[in-house]
Amino acid sequence: MEIPFAESYKIKMVEPIYRSSREERQQWIKEAKYNLFNLKSKQVFIDLLTDSGTGAMSDRQWAEMMLGDESYAGATSYDKMKCAIKNILGFEYFMPTHQGRAAENVLFSVLIKNGDYIPGNSHFDTTKGHIEHRKAHAIDCTIDEASETELYHPFKGNVDPVKLEKVMAEHHEKVPFIIVTVTNNTAGGQPVSMECLRQVRKIADKYKKPVVFDSARFAENAYFIKIREKGYENKTIKEIVKEMFSYADMMTMSAKKDAIVNMGGFIAMNSEEIWRQTSVFNIMFEGYITYGGMSGRDMNALAVGLDEGTEFDYLETRIKQVEYLGNKLTEYGIPFQSPAGGHAIFVDANKVLPNVPKEEFRAQTLGIELYIEAGIRGVEIGALLADRDPVTRENRYPKLELLRLAIPRRVYTDNHMDVIAAGLKNVFDRRDSITRGLNITREAPIMRHFTVEFEHL
Ligand code: F0G
Repeated sequence: MEIPFAESYKIKMVEPIYRSSREERQQWIKEAKYNLFNLKSKQVFIDLLTDSGTGAMSDRQWAEMMLGDESYAGATSYDKMKCAIKNILGFEYFMPTHQGRAAENVLFSVLIKNGDYIPGNSHFDTTKGHIEHRKAHAIDCTIDEASETELYHPFKGNVDPVKLEKVMAEHHEKVPFIIVTVTNNTAGGQPVSMECLRQVRKIADKYKKPVVFDSARFAENAYFIKIREKGYENKTIKEIVKEMFSYADMMTMSAKKDAIVNMGGFIAMNSEEIWRQTSVFNIMFEGYITYGGMSGRDMNALAVGLDEGTEFDYLETRIKQVEYLGNKLTEYGIPFQSPAGGHAIFVDANKVLPNVPKEEFRAQTLGIELYIEAGIRGVEIGALLADRDPVTRENRYPKLELLRLAIPRRVYTDNHMDVIAAGLKNVFDRRDSITRGLNITREAPIMRHFTVEFEHL
């Protein structure tokens, strides 16, 4: 008999979760004004809101926590982080920040001016927020295949070099850098190929522009390159990671994802000059340059997390779990962005709930139904997240209207995946009876999805 695939770790510490009733959940979600962010974690059975900062640290990481050096300046923890960044990612300089968006804030304070254009693949919402807040424009040059959820493409996160070249030809004088998000979260946790990274580098070189990687899930991206791209099957993840970053000048990192820590981030770069310039904003916004909003113990755990997060066995366990959930949904006929992403399954709400008017937020409506059905909390990646156009103030309706089910790292078992799939199947089976969605009663001017309030129609 073939020995089945199993997790490459065992469990040493557990956290109980509460099995609520449907009636409790109906009450709680109403009180939460139909915003899943407003739920208390105790009201959630399986929490798939995000894979950010929600992972389980290893025994090695917890051991390093005890060795944290909490000195204000020049802590050994800073050196450990510097060493890991140099060895694993290849960058000479780095600036610690408290999380990914802080890295964006500090770096963009140096690089972006009013009226600039920042082309790349789908910018994450905080990235877009930090660009638009500076009155610059985020130009999405993702390949068209990314918006066809049922179409297979091994690297749906790719930048379209023709679109990028067009933006550069038109606007290069106002382009401070090109940004590539690996993996492409907004398009469904989809990877970017090494070939694409090379093409982006070539275009950047032609126009003498730097390339920044938004690297939150760079290790998951490297796993897909190893599994799907010719010529990389025999390379280690760490070799692939080194090559990926050889095409970038700088990176921003939310360490809450692929460095498997609960809090942390950084900017890394090869230019000493950029490092100096970021230090001014880092001190102003984050903290001194050798801690930048992180505790020493967190920097230690991050250094170990970068190492563990770039090990094949860990990545294979993680990504196969997401794939396992995807295969169940395929079995039940539930449409999602395929192939399955690295960190999440993105259910195609336009296809599941076509009877709900798009103005009533289909993916959010699906998220509410799934919560009531089985206590599972996902997150909307669609019209709500897309915010209003900053100039016209009209709602933006992106091509993709998705409910993201993000799987935390090393937290849930495959039994939980079975529960998620069954919950979705029950909603899917009664989809024809769901015809009304949600109406916004209160919203913030930017990044509204965190605090928005609804009435159910
Ligand atoms: N870039 C990407 C691609 C991200 O997915 C995120 C966060 C950030 C930047 C910002 O990092 O949260 O540490 O400030 N994504 C989380 C998510 C919130 O749920 O996808 P942060």
